[in-house]
Parts: sequence; C-alpha cells; structure tokens
Amino acid sequence: MSKRNIKIAIPLILIIGLGILTFIRWNAWFGNPEEPAYTTGKKINRLTLTLGNNGEYSRAFSWVFGEEVGEGILEITEMGSSDTTSIPATSEVCISRSGKSAYYRAFVDQLSHGSTYSYRVKNGEFVSEWHQFSTLADSAKNEFSFLYFGDIQDSDSSELTRKLMNEIYDQNKGTQFVLLGGDFIERPMDQYYNMAYEGLGVMATEVPILAVTGNHEYLKGITRKIDSRYAHAFPYYLQSKVGDNHLFTFTYGNAQFFLLDSNREFWNLSTQRDWLKKKLSESKAKWKIVVLHHPIYSLRGDFNNLFVKHYFRPVIEEAKVDLVLQAHEHGYARKTSFNENGEACTPLYTVSYFSEKAYFQDFCGDYQRWGTANRYYQKISIDNDTLVFRTYTDQHKLYDEVRLQKEGNSTLAFDLATDIPEEVIVPEWFRNVKGEKKTKKYEKSIQEWKERKKAK
Ligand SMILES: [Fe+2]
Repeated sequence: MSKRNIKIAIPLILIIGLGILTFIRWNAWFGNPEEPAYTTGKKINRLTLTLGNNGEYSRAFSWVFGEEVGEGILEITEMGSSDTTSIPATSEVCISRSGKSAYYRAFVDQLSHGSTYSYRVKNGEFVSEWHQFSTLADSAKNEFSFLYFGDIQDSDSSELTRKLMNEIYDQNKGTQFVLLGGDFIERPMDQYYNMAYEGLGVMATEVPILAVTGNHEYLKGITRKIDSRYAHAFPYYLQSKVGDNHLFTFTYGNAQFFLLDSNREFWNLSTQRDWLKKKLSESKAKWKIVVLHHPIYSLRGDFNNLFVKHYFRPVIEEAKVDLVLQAHEHGYARKTSFNENGEACTPLYTVSYFSEKAYFQDFCGDYQRWGTANRYYQKISIDNDTLVFRTYTDQHKLYDEVRLQKEGNSTLAFDLATDIPEEVIVPEWFRNVKGEKKTKKYEKSIQEWKERKKAK
C-alpha cells in the first residue's frame, strides 16, 4: 500500500472504529431511561435539613409540596425560648421529563452557638412534625466529627438502607453533619428521589445533609444536564454554583470543605480548577477537605478519570489538602501520600460506597488498603491538630483507621489498621448479578492483587 493510501486508511479505520464503539455504547453514554409519569400531591415531602451559605451557624431547609408555587413557612424556635420565628419560604416549580413538583426553601443565619433548635414547615393547613437539630458549641469548634457516605443510590434496597442509616445515626448522635459523595439517586426520576429519602430516614431532618453531585444526578447527553430537582433539594447550590458547575465550600470549626462537580465535561473542569485554587488559597482553615464523586486515582484502570486527575490533582497536592473523599467506583480503597523522607503524609485519598452495588475492581491507583466485601461508611473526627479517619462496615465493624497529625508545616499519616485483616473477596451482589464469567475474572484480579501485596 502506498504512503498516500496509508495516510487515508488510518483515519478512516479510526473513524469507523469510533462509529462502531459509539453505536454499541450509545445507550451507556447518551441514553436516559424514560421517567415514569408522576404527580406530586399536596403533602409535605422530602424535607431536608442542610447547611446554608454562611458556614456552620447557618441552615437551609428544603421540601416538596404539590405542583404549584404557594405560601410555605418555616417555623423555628430555640430551645428554652418562648419565641417562634416564622420565615417565609421561596418556592419554585421543578419540571422534569414526566411531571412537576413545587420545591420550597428557607434559610436561617447567625444561629446561637451550642444551641438546640426545633423547627417545622407549613403549607396552609399542612404542617410537618417538629424536628430538632443542634449547633456547634464554641468549646467544640476544634473538636467535632462528621459522617461520610460514598454512593448511596438505591434501586430496591431502601428498607435495608434505612435500617442501617438509623443504626448509624443512633451510634453517632453527636455527629455534626453528613456528607454524601454523589449518586444520591439511582436515576433522575421521582421514584428514586422518594427512595433516597426513605433510605436516609430520620437523618434527613435532624442532621445537616450535604451532597456533592454524582453522574446519576445528571441526564446523559452530548453535554450532561443536571436534574433540576437536585439543587432545590440541596439549595446551597442555588447561590454557590459557578455557571453550570455545582460547587460549594463551607467552613465548619477549624475545617473547610470544598465540594466539586466532577461529572462535567473537561472544558468545565478548568473553571472548577480555578475556583478550587482560589478558594484553597483564601482558606485559613487548619484542615482542608475536598469531596468529589470521581476518584482522582481510579480504582478501576489507570486511564479512567484522566481529566479529573489532570485538573484537580496538582491543585490539591500543591495546596496541601489533607483529605480527599471520593466515591463512584463502588469499591473501598485508601492511600496516603509520601514526603521526601519516605514518611506517609497527606493528602489522604479515599474511595467508598454505601450502595448495594459492588463493581469489579482492577486494584489500580496504588492504594494501600482495599475492601470489597461490604457497604462502607466513614466517621471523621477532628481534635485540634489531629484528624482520625475511620471506616466501618455495614455491620458497624471498624475496618480501617488512619490518624493525620499536624506537626509544624507537615501533616503526617499513621496507619492504625495494620492489625485489621483486609477483606477482599467477590461480593455476593456481584456474584448474583454479574454471573459466573465476570465472577471468575474478578477472582483472578483479586488473586493478582494479593500476590502483588505479598511481594511488596
Ligand atoms: Fe457514579
């Protein structure tokens, strides 16, 4: 074949190959299952307590009621006070592909420190129950804890999720807030929002819930489009988003949190990178924690999430972020970084999931500890210069523990889980859903990881 013909043939083969791949993967990349038609009744539903846009002493409240905008009220009272404040809510109709819902939101700022508040919401004669929440005491500003859950998306196990969530909440009553790592819903559909709230149970109304965006919150397409209900459920985004990027930062005690929207196309990620760089440079917080859905170091292949890695990793590492909480790949893994003396240090990168779904893992990304056998959740405790990161299984068994210690300008990491056996097996869900061939492939991948780990 002449050189000229080769020059024509190669691009042609590539175009045909890309065409075939696009045809095969069309549904996975661009397809959206239809949302079943629904109506939204006149009933207070999906009541959510979250943070407002002014730090730890602000709160936002969102709920759904009917299909038209109307008058909604938040009533709030500080325990021990005889005054109840009525705050008018803002309402907006969210129209989805197959129905509509009126979302309500109300904000309160400058709450008292170390107080307990009761609140309820009203739409005409419809009134919610009273719920309570507490604010951070001045004495606890440098000493508090919060919970983190990777994907919690449910397709049919919300009853079990609710049971587990209630158990976790009972065991962690002092927790200040809950962070969700994206994929709150299975798909942008009314039924899955209901399921997500069934799973969250009482926590949704008693402890502030903060969520980053996951790919399941988006409608797929050449350009992804976030489901409009999401930002109304977590209304801090309505003020904080940058263009179409759902970004949010908040301070809590001596820590600052930076929530990214890793689901966007690469041309949006540069905007997010600039935002993150600026916010990190302005931060005076002792502890800096980044939360995003897609892992910077993928568990499932070295070529995954390359744009996310390209844009965010240098900023995170240069700004000495302490902890990076991630999700999406339905496996558990954590890794520390290493300084020039070979000592383990920050950033501490972790990936976790709380969904029933457990994916095939390639054991990529140089993570030091893995878990594939359970759903997992994290409790992160800050005490002045010390941060302890603990991972629990869905049986509430301690599975992983790392202590971060600030010493001068550096933050060292100490692995406290060396005596806890690593549980790396093909999970039951994977075996049942993915079948024998994929299970065998997974078993091989696990075996190879064990051999690599032994050889280290
Ligand atoms: Fe995801």
